[in-house]
Amino acid sequence: MNTTIIIFGATGDLASRKLLPALYRLLQKGDLDGCTIIGVAHDHLTAEQILKNTKQYVKNWDDRIWKRLESIVSYHVVEFEAKHDYTKLAEHIDAIEQGKKSNRLVYLATAARYFCTITRYCAEAGIAKRISEQDRSWNRLAYEKPFGHDLVSAHEINRCITHYFDESQIYRVDHYLTKEVVDNIALLRFTNVVLEPLWRNTYIQNVQIILNEELGIKSRGSYYDTYGALSDVTQNHMLELLALIAMEAPEKLSGHYIRQQRADVLENVKVVDAVVGQYEGYRQEKGVRPDSTTETFAALCLQVKNERWNGTPFFLKTGKKLEKKETLIRIKFKNIDCLLEQEYCPSDSNYLIISLYPDATFSLVLNAKKPGKSFEVAPVTMEFCHSCVFGDSVPDAYQTLFEEIFKGELATSVSLREIEASWRIIDAVKSKELVVHKYEAGSRGPSEAMRVFSKKHGVGWSE
Ligand code: BG6
Repeated sequence: MNTTIIIFGATGDLASRKLLPALYRLLQKGDLDGCTIIGVAHDHLTAEQILKNTKQYVKNWDDRIWKRLESIVSYHVVEFEAKHDYTKLAEHIDAIEQGKKSNRLVYLATAARYFCTITRYCAEAGIAKRISEQDRSWNRLAYEKPFGHDLVSAHEINRCITHYFDESQIYRVDHYLTKEVVDNIALLRFTNVVLEPLWRNTYIQNVQIILNEELGIKSRGSYYDTYGALSDVTQNHMLELLALIAMEAPEKLSGHYIRQQRADVLENVKVVDAVVGQYEGYRQEKGVRPDSTTETFAALCLQVKNERWNGTPFFLKTGKKLEKKETLIRIKFKNIDCLLEQEYCPSDSNYLIISLYPDATFSLVLNAKKPGKSFEVAPVTMEFCHSCVFGDSVPDAYQTLFEEIFKGELATSVSLREIEASWRIIDAVKSKELVVHKYEAGSRGPSEAMRVFSKKHGVGWSE
């Protein structure tokens, strides 16, 4: 069946860097046959200009595919808050569909403050309709993270959008949930007897979730300054990773079941400690307030209050303009009760490292004997490298995200329970009114974070 994809915020950074390149790849794969794409925003631009911006982000360029993309993309100017603009948009869509029955995906790549208005006007203009999934065609709406800016706003947005659409039509998207390695976490845990029985506080000392970025905020100053590191990546990507690591086995690895397990974890998370920072020079960035106290760095110590995890801290650390880009989960196992003479006992324990960036790998760090006559112990790594085994064919997260929405797979969408629970955690951190520590661009973050976490919690983030 034909599908019409309507992207609100089509002139923004996300659309040009991620959404349109992902749609290009789907077209290349032959998965967009019969689809049309309508970009929508308030800027007076043309489809050609928007696609020109996108070109630099498209890998494996093929002129034929590009021409086909050009032939299915159009652009329509809409002031998000001007109701009558939606009537014209509806006419534009009808003219393109020419009376053929089509699925419709409305993708809101806009600031969350527009979610309610856009949803309401789309519903009133008939751009998307409340239709049950039993119907032959579907109408779905995807909302980019962050969904709101705190618990109250998330609740308000949800109240508004569920007034117009059924929960089954709503996708609160988080592209981390469609990363290939992330998808693998649950499988790795529940299908390996060498891991599953150890996956608890008895054997795990701590879990570190690290999302370090080398880049700053680029052209996204005004967006970033409203949200900061806690709302931009911690409330969503990092807490979803925590939920996947800590959840109980779902009855099925899909939709409703997996969402329920993730929510159960997030509802039991308590904040133990937090340090925030801002890189030197942030206030001079375009779009940032000159007296901004927005955090560009956050380090948290969290506790999951349940039988499995009591006593095992979860450490989260993220920041912009740090020394290097690196995204990983490091699971530190407890030290063994060593039965050998002291001199042969390892000084360090085992680790499982799940790396999302720069490489997609799972590494198990074990202790082994160094070559030679003495019994000196050294850490050695057993590694599963995704591209070495499966080639470089790992799909991009946004490509998978579109595919999952087309299939109607809800596991990649975050449920309201998860959204509310994660905002509750972030609101609790923000209510502490923390001092914002300065840090040098290109460093490891504020020295205060290193001090607090190593002194109080014994974590140096890199061991
Ligand atoms: C986005 C954030 O959701 O995730 C960005 O808005 C961040 O600030 C990005 O850079 C990180 O995603 P990835 O896939 O590059 O790790």
